[in-house]
Amino acid sequence: MDITNKLKRIKIPTHLALILDGNGRWAKKKNLNRTDGHSKGFETLINICKTIRKIGIKYLTVYAFSTENWNRPKKEVDFLLDLFEKGIDRLENEYKDDDVKLIISGELDRFSQNIQNKINRFVANSFNKSGFVLNLCLNYGGRAEIVRAVNKIINEKLEYVDEKKFSKYLYTADLPDPDFVIRTSGEQRLSNFLPWQTIYSELYFPKVFWPAFNDSCLLKALKVYSKRDRRFGRVKK
Ligand code: IPE
Ligand code: IPE
Ligand code: MG
Repeated sequence: MDITNKLKRIKIPTHLALILDGNGRWAKKKNLNRTDGHSKGFETLINICKTIRKIGIKYLTVYAFSTENWNRPKKEVDFLLDLFEKGIDRLENEYKDDDVKLIISGELDRFSQNIQNKINRFVANSFNKSGFVLNLCLNYGGRAEIVRAVNKIINEKLEYVDEKKFSKYLYTADLPDPDFVIRTSGEQRLSNFLPWQTIYSELYFPKVFWPAFNDSCLLKALKVYSKRDRRFGRVKK
């Protein structure tokens, strides 16, 4: 399906955020290992990124690994770390000639030096790009992000910050707030995802497990988004 033909009357969010959930349940349903779900989930991400760029979404945030996900069995965490390492190579290769900027939300210091080097290189090499911004949340926790910002402010000995200034101390300093958050798998919670930035985001919780999320799921989601009436506390015009 060429989704671009089907976009009439559909509002395109400037910033889309995805909480990739349901890899394990997708695998279980197919009698596969949870790790197979993560592998398929990564392929799904690569594919959907293509469509997301094609339809003109400018910012994409992807929640891939939370501060709480370290509490999973070691074998699963190790698999995910390996997948991130390969995934970064793949993404860098995929985007090397494109106007794509990578930013990271989360503390990288818990990852191996090899992963950190790869990510830092990609971030540095794409620093001046701006066509499409991919914000990857790795070892990300929303509360940790806020506390980190507070500590930076204390270290700089500032006496007063307003909301605008405060938000400059977050990982998302240069990004607009997400317009639309999609969490797959039917779970209706944010699980420590962007608590500061999502106060006025539209939320959508489709039942589909992440590995099965395809262009028509995205189109359906965008149709839902297009019907939302975003009032920001005002009265409808
Ligand atoms: C999302 O899928 C991937 C990560 C959080 C890393 P899950 O692994 O959470 O899949 P379920 O929720 O157990 O099905
Ligand atoms: C949220 O999914 C975190 C990511 C998608 C990275 P989880 O599967 O970890 O969340 P909970 O445990 O169901 O809240
Ligand atoms: Mg989950």
